Amino acid sequence: MELLKKLTAATGISGREEGIRSLIIKEMKPLVDDLKTDVMGNIIGHCKGKGKKRLVLAAHMDEIGLIVNHVDDKGFLRIIPIGGIDPRTLMAQKVVVHGKKELYGVIGSKPKHVLTDEEMKKALKVEDYYVDLGLPVEKVKKLVEIGDAVTWHRDFTEVGDCYVSKAFDDRIGVYVMLEALKKINGKALPVETYAVATVQEEVGVRGAETSTIGLNPDIGIAIDITLAVDVPGSADHQQITRLGEGAAIKIMDGNSISNPRLVDHMKAVAKKKKIKFQMEILPRGGTDAGALQRAGGSAAVTAISIPTRYGHSSVEMIHKMDVKACIDLLVAYILEAGSKDYILK
Ligand code: CO
Ligand code: ZN
Repeated sequence: MELLKKLTAATGISGREEGIRSLIIKEMKPLVDDLKTDVMGNIIGHCKGKGKKRLVLAAHMDEIGLIVNHVDDKGFLRIIPIGGIDPRTLMAQKVVVHGKKELYGVIGSKPKHVLTDEEMKKALKVEDYYVDLGLPVEKVKKLVEIGDAVTWHRDFTEVGDCYVSKAFDDRIGVYVMLEALKKINGKALPVETYAVATVQEEVGVRGAETSTIGLNPDIGIAIDITLAVDVPGSADHQQITRLGEGAAIKIMDGNSISNPRLVDHMKAVAKKKKIKFQMEILPRGGTDAGALQRAGGSAAVTAISIPTRYGHSSVEMIHKMDVKACIDLLVAYILEAGSKDYILK
């Protein structure tokens, strides 16, 4: 739990992952036989295994956020989104601006009282918001530059049987991967196993594309959030996954179709170990699984997804039991990897 807290508190929007990267390196190093990073900042850990096959796990370290694209003559910051930000989630948020030092700020917009009827009807766009640092312009200009990252200012909170944080997408995936590495540490692994913490997933699966090419995976497993739309106003067939119903095994998303034999194997592992699971079809959006599939020749891929309510907002919510199920399933699978072939005939 402490580690999960730390992982979500660390900051790193796509392309500016330095804050989270150093923490993952520190945590992963003792758990792998060797570890390297590349120019883009991906972290590639390697655990030796007996067989020739190669299993590559990937979880992305970047989070969605904003960057400063203009500092106006009154000291207000204009912002543009990095990753899939819904403009409606920006209203009245507290943020941290990563300038020469960390600065707290709020996202401002005109109050309702002064809007015209016409303006009231319009949905705000990202361009309509600004960051207010509560500082005079001279000070702002000294501390903030174009290109500085802006992240949510939100604490990790326990809410009922759930956790809420600003960046479970995809720090929870990184956490599941690290916890699985802890559990397999010292055990004989059946296949060469790589644990990759990727960058720039939220802007189009960029880090996974470059970092996994040389690894030539036979089997690729992404660990990422998926949507749980088990909320008021959504019909049963639109829920994708449900909180508390276990690890989600991906059948497909917008960027990859899972290998059906690998999916069957994953289901069999879950059943054998009595791990609660559910199946996931995500109609839009992709994960690192897409890159893993096409990283070298062709690979059988799927994802272990952590059901998440309110994805891509500052209050992403996950269920404690689902986290445990995801770790258990990943561990059980790693210890069985290579025992089946997934060639589609
Ligand atoms: Co995402
Ligand atoms: Zn993600």
